[in-house]
Amino acid sequence: MNFVYKTENRCQVHCKAILSGACGRMGTKILAAAAQTDDIRIVAAIGRSGSDCIGKELAGGIVVQDALVPSLAGDEILIEFSTPQATMDHLKIAVASRIPVLIGTTGLSAAQTALISQAAQSIPVLVSHNYGIGMNAFWEILKVATRYLGHDYDIEVIEFHANNKPDVPSGTGGTIARIIAEERGDALEDVIRYGRDKNTANTRKPKEIGMHSLRAGSYRSDHTVIFAGNGERLEFTHREEDSSIIARGVLWGLRFLNGRAPGLYSMGDVLKYVPGTN
Ligand SMILES: NC(=O)c1ccc[n+]([C@@H]2O[C@H](COP(=O)([O-])OP(=O)(O)OC[C@H]3O[C@@H](n4cnc5c(N)ncnc54)[C@H](OP(=O)(O)O)[C@@H]3O)[C@@H](O)[C@H]2O)c1
Repeated sequence: MNFVYKTENRCQVHCKAILSGACGRMGTKILAAAAQTDDIRIVAAIGRSGSDCIGKELAGGIVVQDALVPSLAGDEILIEFSTPQATMDHLKIAVASRIPVLIGTTGLSAAQTALISQAAQSIPVLVSHNYGIGMNAFWEILKVATRYLGHDYDIEVIEFHANNKPDVPSGTGGTIARIIAEERGDALEDVIRYGRDKNTANTRKPKEIGMHSLRAGSYRSDHTVIFAGNGERLEFTHREEDSSIIARGVLWGLRFLNGRAPGLYSMGDVLKYVPGTN
């Protein structure tokens, strides 16, 4: 049985979107999630030029194109779940066409991130490394826990992913550690410690955040943060059962971006959004 969110049906205005990276894993999930709504319509799909999926007809009769061409009305929102280069190329077109952009692509360089901030001066741009609603709420909860406990309790982060995930730590694990460090006014690189090694000193440094990466089996992902004090310990865990939760967060992001003023937005802004208050 599908769980239905009580806040799901909250878009007041119809929303059209162009999906870049439409044939990829996330593109496919977003297309399927949008098809289940009655307020969001994917009106165009973009793939990599030369890829087998160009010309393919996707669900809903949309044919995959190899170039981004916003309509003359300019009333779409661009969704990017592609590559950093494609995202930056498309961002220029979005700025020229004055259309909002929702960016999910990860692995962007500092220079590319700076260009996105620049673009956000003329168009609305929403960027998140993790569009999961639960994970974004988890980050907010960790800020509060860090405020109460972060100066006195030892903090360890454990991220668990499938055995074929190459990046260590996970982008989300890194974000969790950064949020905790920032909440305490520290630079992440001064306080982070990756794993423990029998050949190095293992006593904790002051304010250390231990980061532990587990890679095993086919499990999707768990992130746990432990706050351990003298005689007690609090553990906060987020478990991801299905990546379609990311697509659901993208739909929330589209509803938030629709009709919004230029600016750089995060999923934190989306979580606080109350419909009709643009
Ligand atoms: N923010 C989040 O919550 C979140 C969650 C999951 C994933 N991601 C990120 O989203 C991105 C996509 O993830 P994924 O798992 O869907 O990867 P994927 O399966 O590799 O999909 C990426 C798609 O982009 C296509 N592409 C390449 N160049 C393009 C271009 N110029 N124009 C349009 N499409 C182009 C690729 O085509 P070819 O395969 O033909 O090259 C592929 O179909 C990654 O950066 C990933 O890390 C973010």
